[in-house]
Amino acid sequence: MLLQLEGLTKRFPGGVTALDGVSVDLVAGEHLGLVGESGCGKTTLARIVMGLVIPDQGRVLFEGRELVSAKERRGLFCRKARMVFQDPFSSLDPRFTVRAILREALALEPRMRLGEELGRMREVLGLVRLPPDILARYPHEFSGGERQRIAIARALMSQPSLLVLDEVLSSLDVLVQQDILTVLEEIPRRTGVTYLFIAHNLRTVRRLSRRVAVMRRGVIVEYGGCEDLFSSAVHPYTQALFKAAINYEVSA
Ligand SMILES: Nc1ncnc2c1ncn2[C@@H]1O[C@H](COP(=O)(O)OP(=O)(O)OP(=O)(O)O)[C@@H](O)[C@H]1O
Ligand SMILES: [Mg+2]
Repeated sequence: MLLQLEGLTKRFPGGVTALDGVSVDLVAGEHLGLVGESGCGKTTLARIVMGLVIPDQGRVLFEGRELVSAKERRGLFCRKARMVFQDPFSSLDPRFTVRAILREALALEPRMRLGEELGRMREVLGLVRLPPDILARYPHEFSGGERQRIAIARALMSQPSLLVLDEVLSSLDVLVQQDILTVLEEIPRRTGVTYLFIAHNLRTVRRLSRRVAVMRRGVIVEYGGCEDLFSSAVHPYTQALFKAAINYEVSA
């Protein structure tokens, strides 16, 4: 088992219960889609997985081991699990070249020889279909879609086994979304990485995920194989999500 989340609960000051006893497993190679309305707790879940938020209750096990100390979490999670965020404009430091941005992702890795490091950079840029000659350029020289590819490339530098993608398509226009989806479809085949793919759009979830968890108000209300869920959603909330998606697709 790649990732086991057991009974995660998180309350924020002010009384918001962002997560209320969430348990879900991720099997290596079986990408999990996480969907649900805004504010239902998806990002909180992702941040707990990455050790960026400490849950009030519950456990996170990565490859069968619970990482207890902050040091352990940093050491393992920042290398074997990586996250890509929604906004490619704020996630890349404007002062750094692409090369420095990619190199920073190796901070916790054993030191590499220069040639090896450059080889890895070319490899991850190839995975996101960007040319290697962009290494000397700065983030402001790129479009939103290109920046998101750079963010994905950065996340792949440490050869993670888990990639948490939190609404990585939401800020991009539809054509760019399609390009990035194609790239995202290819990457697991070439690297063996498994996705926790968070999205609003059910169609993209269907393209990328084997399994889907539907969240509402901090609780997983439905979980199952992607095709099963699409053909026979049981929970009225899931049906409503599908209906909303269909209406949206018709009107869009
Ligand atoms: N740091 C925080 N402090 C206080 N409340 C927070 C914090 N982070 C999240 N929340 C609250 O927790 C709930 C869940 O937020 P979260 O960001 O996880 O939702 P989400 O499903 O990712 O939403 P979206 O689809 O809009 O990204 C929301 O009510 C939010 O306002
Ligand atoms: Mg979110």
